[in-house]
Amino acid sequence: MTYRILLFGFLLSIIVIAAVFVLPDNNRTTDQSAIAATPPALNEAQYIGVAQCVICHRTEAQGEQERIWRESLHARAYETLKTEESIEIAQEMGIETPPHEAPECLVCHATGWDLPPERLGNRFKIEDGVQCETCHGAGSEYRAIHARDPEAGRERGLIVGAGDADACIACHNENSPTYKGFEFERDMEKIAHPVPN
Ligand code: HEC
Ligand code: HEC
Ligand code: HEC
Ligand code: HEC
Repeated sequence: MTYRILLFGFLLSIIVIAAVFVLPDNNRTTDQSAIAATPPALNEAQYIGVAQCVICHRTEAQGEQERIWRESLHARAYETLKTEESIEIAQEMGIETPPHEAPECLVCHATGWDLPPERLGNRFKIEDGVQCETCHGAGSEYRAIHARDPEAGRERGLIVGAGDADACIACHNENSPTYKGFEFERDMEKIAHPVPN
């Protein structure tokens, strides 16, 4: 009898120990995983949407990035594709789909339009147009860590490329049917949203 109880207890503890190793750890926070040596594959990061950034990036002390962005044309880039002007441009170019569904336009006027649903967070909105993550990278992996540890943020996909015009010229170029020219310093000034010193 005693032997059976001992055996039962032994088997039970094996099962419990195995479960600890095998079952996914749902309590694991992003902060803990941030300590892991290998960064997750950045091409699996999700675009989580402006709403997930402006929780913090809205106050005067932070630099009012939300207000500055909302007042810029970048915030309206997707809606622009629904205007009469856009429809005419697309027709002249022989594009058969409405411009707000045409890859030929979305490529510069939106983010995430070409990605499968698992790459988009539940607060992601295509209506955000050219948004924080278009320039700073998909946010799911760096969102929690970057405020405390900017270096770890960068390792997890946060893009901060001071003084680099190439990122802008990816869209501000002659492939834009309405191209108006681009001068990095002048145009950066128009959208600047630094953290105050
Ligand atoms: C929990 C609050 C919080 C959230 C959410 C948040 N940030 Fe931040 N972020 C911060 C803080 C705090 C800093 C540090 C600012 C400073 O230098 O004082 C920062 C810094 C940054 C910087 C500058 C980094 C550097 O090294 O200069 C960028 C760019 C940035 N955040 C983008 C984003 C984007 C994009 C999102 C959404 C995907 C986001 N943040 C979400 C709090 C947050
Ligand atoms: C069109 C591209 C673009 C968009 C859209 C954009 N940013 Fe930026 N952001 C930049 C650039 C460029 C800088 C200057 C620093 C650098 O070169 O990365 C910058 C700087 C910042 C900084 C300050 C870094 C510092 O050290 O002063 C923060 C914070 C930030 N962005 C957050 C945001 C948030 C939040 C949003 C969305 C509401 C956003 N950005 C939208 C391109 C963009
Ligand atoms: C993903 C494409 C894309 C990138 C990257 C991009 N832009 Fe733009 N930008 C646009 C589009 C599209 C518009 C026009 C939106 C509209 O009129 O609806 C625009 C408009 C602007 C304007 C017009 C003025 C205003 O009031 O907003 C400025 C200035 C500008 N961008 C600066 C920049 C700078 C500086 C960078 C790099 C840091 C940058 N853009 C990166 C797509 C982009
Ligand atoms: C290579 C990137 C790119 C592509 C592709 C693109 N746009 Fe744009 N779009 C821009 C930029 C950048 C601006 C800001 C003005 C400029 O072109 O310098 C803009 C501005 C606009 C504007 C505002 C007009 C104005 O006077 O500022 C309209 C309308 C527009 N685009 C429609 C479209 C349509 C429709 C398509 C698809 C047929 C399209 N765009 C494809 C980058 C692009």
